[in-house]
Amino acid sequence: MKRFIITEDGSHSLFSAQFNQQYHSLQGALSESEHIYINLGLRPALENGPVSVFEMGFGTGLNAFLAWKLADQLQKQVFYTSVEAYPVSPLEASQLNYEEATGEKGFMQLHNAEWGKEVTISPFFNLRKQITTLQDFTPDRFFDIIFYDAFDPRAQPELWTAEIFTKIAALTKPGGVLVTYSSKGIVKRALAAGGFKVERHKGPGRKTHVLKAIKL
Ligand SMILES: C[S@@+](CC[C@H](N)C(=O)[O-])C[C@H]1O[C@@H](n2cnc3c(N)ncnc32)[C@H](O)[C@@H]1O
Repeated sequence: MKRFIITEDGSHSLFSAQFNQQYHSLQGALSESEHIYINLGLRPALENGPVSVFEMGFGTGLNAFLAWKLADQLQKQVFYTSVEAYPVSPLEASQLNYEEATGEKGFMQLHNAEWGKEVTISPFFNLRKQITTLQDFTPDRFFDIIFYDAFDPRAQPELWTAEIFTKIAALTKPGGVLVTYSSKGIVKRALAAGGFKVERHKGPGRKTHVLKAIKL
């Protein structure tokens, strides 16, 4: 069961009754995604050429939508792989206001793309969504950027362990970057134990910190 939320910047999000968690910051779904995943993660990486992104938790598809639009705008290739264990249905997705909030078109192309296949969304954006848990996901390539967007460690502690970040480190290229909204101590320690050098950065809005971690 998912409920709609309107966040403080006017962009929508969802609330999962199953996990008692919202999908984005209540201070602004769009501002959070732009600040952490796009501006801290993807944008600097695109300066060096084509980028392969791995996202933990496709969810509403907002991060993927913003990544696609940046790839088109900069005319740089992005190969985007995302895992999702509990997909949002196309009907639910069609009610999200992300086209209006961004002034961009085509949001539903991401939700209508077939699961388990690599789909060309635009000349600069390829999408591969997999219905699987992160724990069961078997990677077949290495990634430059990781969007680590799991529900909060209080709701899903099993997704924020040293063991999980060791798995994530194994699919990240050396020098590759993981970005995430949580800056909790247990997250920093688990990332370091997994093989990342952890940096704290200013968060969006009133959020003090977010993390950027570099694969050693
Ligand atoms: C914070 S939300 C992701 C928000 C998303 N990135 C977006 O832009 O809307 C976390 C997502 O992780 C998914 N999830 C929960 N447990 C999972 C697991 N073990 N493996 C993969 N996905 C999982 C949830 O269904 C949810 O869609």
